[in-house]
Amino acid sequence: MQADKMFEIDNSNLGEYTEVDIYFCGKNGKFGLFIPKNSENDLSSINPDKQLYVNREDRLTLIKKWIKRDVNNVKAWYEEDPNKSKAYLFQVAKHFFMDKDKSIIEESKYLVNTMVLMFEKYPDTMEKLSFLPAKDFSLHYHNINVMLYCIDFAKKNKRTKDELVIAGLTGFLHDIGKIDIDEEILMKVDTLTKSEITTIQNHPRLGIRILKDCKIDERIIDVVWEHHERLDGSGYPRGKFAESLGMHSRLLAIIDSFDALTSERPYKKRLSIMNAFKSLMEEADRGKYDSMILKQFAKCFIGTNL
Ligand SMILES: [Fe+2]
Repeated sequence: MQADKMFEIDNSNLGEYTEVDIYFCGKNGKFGLFIPKNSENDLSSINPDKQLYVNREDRLTLIKKWIKRDVNNVKAWYEEDPNKSKAYLFQVAKHFFMDKDKSIIEESKYLVNTMVLMFEKYPDTMEKLSFLPAKDFSLHYHNINVMLYCIDFAKKNKRTKDELVIAGLTGFLHDIGKIDIDEEILMKVDTLTKSEITTIQNHPRLGIRILKDCKIDERIIDVVWEHHERLDGSGYPRGKFAESLGMHSRLLAIIDSFDALTSERPYKKRLSIMNAFKSLMEEADRGKYDSMILKQFAKCFIGTNL
């Protein structure tokens, strides 16, 4: 078994891997079978002292199963406990951002498709879910939230099913470039150094590098690249101006900032929805955001004009 075909798993979560073979890596670098699939052992009670692995192809199959099982249960869980349903989505999302496995990233279409179906079946629940603030900040919650807002907004604007999926995928994958950035920098509470800021501001570029390697719809690429650009040229990474920024990039910039403002972060408190819109409107007046799109987005969610 070759190392690049293996994936390091979280040893505390072995119960998730009962249906596949689990391996360990010997001192000689060779992989040996640790627990065969469908073993009678209760994996959740095993506490191994060595790092364990599964085959990447097996992991992909499992992820598909988890999406099918978990995402379809989101409504039932929501009724039981809204935080639980979001936590499950968080767990699913986490698997897409654990490494740069192209085939896993490509599978995010499957997750978004399922979410779009959920929006068609249960629009009220799904809308409430996107507004449910996460207790702890994490990139995964942010990706889930931005995906939900994008699908909801597209749906309320009567877009086609294909456009809903593209909107959701753009939201889910917009920060994919951050998987190439050290988590210590991403979660740093103290003021960032100049070089750390430069590193973070490179994430849209890193993101498109990853996505260009994947079988992913071309329409997503530009929006991922441009989600931190601002109409007055003050954004990054390229400092583009309004005339070269499309509607979808302008919208994602607003949704991304809205979720950042309304979420708790290690270095800041969350704003209320109304205060977040007020802050965005002030920025739009200064020429950063598209005020027409901002008003449409706000009207969709609060039902009144800003
Ligand atoms: Fe970003």
